Amino acid sequence: MSPEVPPPGCPAHRGGGGLVELHDPSAVANHEATDERLRKLYGNVAPVALPGGVTAWLVLGYREILEVTGNPRLYTRDTRQWSGVEQLTPTHPLTALLAPQKLCVFADGDEHHELRGAITRTLGEFESRSVRRLVEMYSNQLIDQFPNPDRGLSDGVRHVDLVTAWAEQLPMMILAHLAGLPVETAPRLVKLCQDVMGGTEEAQHSHREMTVLLEDLVEQNRRWNMERPRNNVTAKLLERFQGDRERTREHVRLLLIAGNQTTVSLMSSLLRYVLTSRAFRSEVRGGHKTIAGALEEVSWYEPPLRRSFHRVATNDTHLPNNGGTFIKKGDLLVLGLAAGNNDPAIRSADEPLDGNRAHLAYGGAGPHECPGQGIARIIVETGVDHLLDALWQLELDGPEEELRWEASFAQRRPANLPVRCTLNPVRPGRTRSAHSAPLPKSVPQSAGAMPAAAVPSSAAPEPAGGRGKLRKILGS
Ligand code: HEM
Repeated sequence: MSPEVPPPGCPAHRGGGGLVELHDPSAVANHEATDERLRKLYGNVAPVALPGGVTAWLVLGYREILEVTGNPRLYTRDTRQWSGVEQLTPTHPLTALLAPQKLCVFADGDEHHELRGAITRTLGEFESRSVRRLVEMYSNQLIDQFPNPDRGLSDGVRHVDLVTAWAEQLPMMILAHLAGLPVETAPRLVKLCQDVMGGTEEAQHSHREMTVLLEDLVEQNRRWNMERPRNNVTAKLLERFQGDRERTREHVRLLLIAGNQTTVSLMSSLLRYVLTSRAFRSEVRGGHKTIAGALEEVSWYEPPLRRSFHRVATNDTHLPNNGGTFIKKGDLLVLGLAAGNNDPAIRSADEPLDGNRAHLAYGGAGPHECPGQGIARIIVETGVDHLLDALWQLELDGPEEELRWEASFAQRRPANLPVRCTLNPVRPGRTRSAHSAPLPKSVPQSAGAMPAAAVPSSAAPEPAGGRGKLRKILGS
């Protein structure tokens, strides 16, 4: 295709029609097939349609994504420069993602440097052993709530959905704790974040409720900071933002929203992989596999944000290997992180990915790369490791084919993971489970019945540890 001739449906030539709609149910049901079809049609940069009639360029190539994320002057995060910004009415489906806000996500240059510096330094202070201990403590609290039909028998078999009863709950408990909020608020926060990002009918009401909750949190920490500052993310951000309460409140909101769903997603995907992958099992038999290695492998195949918003071109430009099409000043770009991870130009299908951190799950390179990845890795790795220590005779409670996915045009994660197991009575970190108050009722995040068929047990109970633990859990 000539560099002078844009492809059909190019966002620069609105009204062109014929664009692949990423939110079409068939495209949502099979992200991989959609990405590959687009790659075949257009090369590594494809014009696509998004919900609400928005058109954008989907960047599918690994190198192209690094070029975009590494060049904030040409590809900005500032959506005020997007030519379609006027489409964002309060009820538009992409308003929560794209409406300009005074947040590091929408800033570039000096402003971004200042905001982002405060966040990176603050989160860096919590990438520590104490977060590992928190993960164990709250994981134990959740496991204590797993239903026990054989009440009174410590070795009674439990039937539990690990996605709803554990993975959907744990990350927000940690994030709320780190922010300085009572852990009892975690289930409500999960619901509020979902409403806000999902653009549900309650979105505006939930946004206001969250504002009130976070305003109280910031005000409390402002008073404490004058006497004896608390060791939490809110107190430290408030100090680094020189007492600016609104800026602090909005960035705490951002951390909760950006950190929860993504971490839930990676945790569920890793668990699903551990419980279903034959390749994983055989590697465990060889004694080579660790949870940390598997976590990076899953980040290649199932990055929580399969398509990440957003960049805006600040000038007319073009990317290599995109059929020579133009990107116009003001065009919107979406990063196809899963497609980039899958790019045949950078790796062959059978290449081992265990422990390889060169994936794009956290956004690739550049100033906006996820600042929460250290904490996310700690939560997911420690959490899954703890769960595998805590649950014996662990196996899927039904055929793998009945496991479901929850997907949108930008994300995908396991919707359920029903298992049967018994509990290890001497779980790691249990003595530290000092918060004896009962937890609030969990907020169900994905509906649906558990598969009924049970799989016969093959693994015998045994105190666990390291790779031996994995071998035993997986019945190898
Ligand atoms: C597995 C978990 C996570 C994944 C996969 C993930 C992924 C991402 C991605 C893809 C971006 C966009 C990068 C870009 O556009 O260049 C991002 C940005 C961000 N993430 Fe994460 N994230 C995770 C966890 C977290 C956590 C736990 C936090 C906070 C506690 C967090 C806070 C943020 C923030 C504040 C930004 C915006 C950074 C900026 O614009 O400068 N994330 N994340």
